[in-house]
Amino acid sequence: MRKLIILSAFVVAIALVSSFAKESLRSIYSRPATQWPKPFIDSGVQWTELGVLPASPVEKNKDSLEHIIELGKALFFDTRLSGSGKISCGTCHQPELNWTDGKEKSIGHDGAINKSNSPTIQNSWFYNRLFWDGRSTGLQDQAFGPINSETEMHSEMPEVISKLRRVKQYREMFKKAFGDDFIEPDRMTTAIATFEKLSLAGRQDLMSFWRGIKMR
Ligand code: HEC
Repeated sequence: MRKLIILSAFVVAIALVSSFAKESLRSIYSRPATQWPKPFIDSGVQWTELGVLPASPVEKNKDSLEHIIELGKALFFDTRLSGSGKISCGTCHQPELNWTDGKEKSIGHDGAINKSNSPTIQNSWFYNRLFWDGRSTGLQDQAFGPINSETEMHSEMPEVISKLRRVKQYREMFKKAFGDDFIEPDRMTTAIATFEKLSLAGRQDLMSFWRGIKMR
């Protein structure tokens, strides 16, 4: 009997302590992220607290970049960018699937299975390194990758450029975007990258949590 009383007291004590610990953690992390306790990090490690993303640099210049964004959008969803004429960037980065393809591994040219899934392009303007292994340093550089990749779009940049030069609508769009109708790789990837920079994640509840705003 005595043993049972001691055991019960012990269990109650643990329950109380853990409920207090939970409560205090909850209240600590209900404050804005800037007031969270500092983590224990090994010296020399550079770190940034999770938090609200800054607005994309394109946001405030949106009006002046209107024609470049329009061109980038057309290119992003154009299957002419692929060797088979069947695949666009938007095939693997679909807006309605949060800019992914929803597959475990993405399927490219002629049913080829890629090594990985297609990550979302949302907020990708913010990263210094792109791709799962970080081998690309920016969106403009990145856009060359899938076009040339055997298992993605299976095309060649010169081939894509000559296809685009034959399309009147593109000559007009390049002229509106860049001042003349010269179609070349750098302008093409600039337009795609500018369009991508507008793709932002809109998790307002998460943003509110980081700002310390109570939701309910
Ligand atoms: C066949 C499917 C497929 C097509 C088509 C495709 N992608 Fe991707 N995309 C992927 C996969 C898979 C990855 C990840 C590859 C890796 O990490 O090695 C990726 C990665 C990316 C990333 C990096 C995201 C990050 O967070 O690192 C961006 C940006 C991107 N693609 C944009 C594009 C653009 C622009 C095009 C068209 C020119 C395009 N993709 C065409 C499948 C595709």
